[in-house]
Amino acid sequence: KGKGKVRWVCEKCGYSDGQWWGYCRSCESSGTMKSFSVVPEKETKNKGLEYSETMLRSWLPNDAGSVEPVSLMEVNRGIKESNNRIPLSGPFGDEVARVLGGGLVPGSLVLIGGDPGVGKSTLLLQTAGLIAERCDSNEPAPVVYVSGEESVQQICSRAERMNIGANKLYLYSGTDIEDILEKIKPLSPQALIVDSIQTVYLKEATGSAGGIHQVRECTSALLRFAKKTNIPVLLAGHVTKSGEIAGPRVLEHIVDTVLYLEGEKFSSHRLLRPVKNRFGSTDELGVFEMSQLGLQAVSNPSEMFLSDQNSDSEFLAGLAVTVIIDGSRAFLIEIQALCVSSSTVSRHVNGIQPTRADMIISVLAKQAGLRIQGNAVFLNVVSGVSLTETAGDLAIAASICSSFLEFPIPNGVAFIGEIGLGGELRMVPMMDKRVITVAKLGYKKCIVPMRAEKSLAALDLVDDIVLFWDLISGPSM
Ligand code: TYD
Ligand code: MG
Repeated sequence: KGKGKVRWVCEKCGYSDGQWWGYCRSCESSGTMKSFSVVPEKETKNKGLEYSETMLRSWLPNDAGSVEPVSLMEVNRGIKESNNRIPLSGPFGDEVARVLGGGLVPGSLVLIGGDPGVGKSTLLLQTAGLIAERCDSNEPAPVVYVSGEESVQQICSRAERMNIGANKLYLYSGTDIEDILEKIKPLSPQALIVDSIQTVYLKEATGSAGGIHQVRECTSALLRFAKKTNIPVLLAGHVTKSGEIAGPRVLEHIVDTVLYLEGEKFSSHRLLRPVKNRFGSTDELGVFEMSQLGLQAVSNPSEMFLSDQNSDSEFLAGLAVTVIIDGSRAFLIEIQALCVSSSTVSRHVNGIQPTRADMIISVLAKQAGLRIQGNAVFLNVVSGVSLTETAGDLAIAASICSSFLEFPIPNGVAFIGEIGLGGELRMVPMMDKRVITVAKLGYKKCIVPMRAEKSLAALDLVDDIVLFWDLISGPSM
């Protein structure tokens, strides 16, 4: 049993198999199975850190056999009584706590993902500072912030700039997971922050730091640490170009909670969105604004999108808002249209499929009677996103009508729905998620297909949901 066994893990869905099949037997994609060696339990036993195939299960109580089944009500009562989530106070803390599902759960492993430079380190350092400053206990335990990217001096000057002065905040710069865990164990901290998962490594695991094997093994080691010690661990993870954290989806399966920090390059707003949460809903959304002092909670997100539009509404003819879903995330995007009468009928589209745009223009002309034939139509998705979903059809149609009729669409209105060839409006998937996002961002009116009525009736979020059934008949209420 000296040699390590090999397991095959699907890079895409995280399925693992003891045998190589040439394709993933779970998600059926080919070429995604990557091998990694598993160190047998014996070899690593006395190194302070054991990891093995059974690692994920090993944090379960050892005497699992002797535990009796309990009634749901009893467990429920137990949970309510010992509501021991670590609270986060202040406007920033409230926002983070809400996204987490009501505070940080002890022993949980939380991953904060996002593009490089979006503000993950800032968010984590602020959170660490908040927990370290907690004054509800007389002798608060420390919080350890470990960075594999910056030196202690760099983190310190960052903290200074952000006015974080908690003396219970401990900083450590290191990349060796075993070393990190050994160093912080004696401190028995309230929380451990690791920035970032791509920079740490485990000696026994193969590959270089940031590679699939290392990222997986390090995350598993941290999960084990969190479950064993009941110390919550917060991880930062960069998103790669393809939109995944460290390539493998594997990571998202291991951790308890995945939060994405998102933001446009040229905007100072940041959104914190749960993608997975074992301890709360994934429908929450944290809204922040960047500042010298770090991230500030935006208490009233409605103003954030409406403020600079209020003044010159005449300029806004041809602008319509919709929601797209990317993976499990929802984004608000703006579609801009410009119709100019011209002798040559031409269409210029940017960020929208030309055939889709053609279809919508034709439907508007034929079914809605818009006399758009003698016009050149320009279409653009603001900020360079590309629209790949049919859910944006209605917004495209609305922006074209708005520009053609020179009628600006009022602020705070969003359009969601697919358009059929007969001019009918069709349902799109995840309607409630889209509407929730729109409502949370302060939009007051949402125009949706008639069929969505049932699924949206229970939400009670948008003040005014206007139901449309087709382009000819107009709104139903
Ligand atoms: P950083 O937290 O380092 O991003 P990440 O860890 O995701 O790569 O933030 C990037 C830069 O932006 C950094 O120089 C600090 C600055 N920043 C602010 O000045 N204020 C803020 O509120 C945020 C979020 C970042
Ligand atoms: Mg960083």
